[in-house]
Amino acid sequence: MPKVSVMKVFDGHQLALQIEAELKQKIQRLKRRPQLTVFLLNNNPESQLYVQKKKVLAERIGVNFNLIQLIKAETNPVLQLIKEQNNQRSVAGIMVQLPLNRGLNERKILDAIDPQKDVDCLTSKNLGLVAAGQPRFLPATVKGIMTILTQEKVVVRGRQAVVVGGSNIVGKPLAMVLSNQGATVTLVRSSEKNLAQITRQADILITAVGRQNLIKASMVKEGAVVIDVGITRCDNQECHVYGDVDFKRVKTKASLITPVPGGVGPLTVVSLFENLIL
Ligand code: GUN
Repeated sequence: MPKVSVMKVFDGHQLALQIEAELKQKIQRLKRRPQLTVFLLNNNPESQLYVQKKKVLAERIGVNFNLIQLIKAETNPVLQLIKEQNNQRSVAGIMVQLPLNRGLNERKILDAIDPQKDVDCLTSKNLGLVAAGQPRFLPATVKGIMTILTQEKVVVRGRQAVVVGGSNIVGKPLAMVLSNQGATVTLVRSSEKNLAQITRQADILITAVGRQNLIKASMVKEGAVVIDVGITRCDNQECHVYGDVDFKRVKTKASLITPVPGGVGPLTVVSLFENLIL
């Protein structure tokens, strides 16, 4: 008899809307509207778009959104501005949109954020807590992915998880969280010679690289859970975004797959605000 696998395409918009409604209610019950300060230290249209998405959601759920955009800043004045935000009681959360302009010291700037207000969880202190299995927050994308796994009742403990891409924002902290939850985790780079051999072992395959069609059907185990965090924008006129996964072919093999767009992305944005009201 042919094997029938039940495949599900995950709908990130629907779950994000549900979480958004819950957030809005929680914020209405607070005595004061929380404020999020976002630093945008580049002139990159993609970063502007991400920041705009955060602003729109903030307005919908009742968060005061304070954007500090500096296109030609140097490290020391930025550190000073972050310090001012740390000291303002009305500011509940601070984040610095990445990437930074060349010449800025990323580690120094991120570590200037008060860890209590570091809702993007990128300070060394908060990443250290994640590594130690005692997280205060999770980075927004990591939190979004874990929300998907929980919502879809994906068992993590005892499973083989492969994370492709080792960024400080996604790959590395995600590998730590999955490991702390009892998965056997391989963190692999997209340049790995034996990438296919490694990804084929994955019960849970998560890719966060930003290269279209990096993950082909032949690289995926039958029945795997496939989470696609990659984003590639085409540069022709009919613009579209693509994930890392050859979605059309891989979806016939996976038991659960997240599309791009509309998978992890919407959850990343709401996750930042979940951290804010924590
Ligand atoms: N740029 C792209 N994604 C992110 C993110 O999750 N956090 C920050 N700070 N910058 C980003």
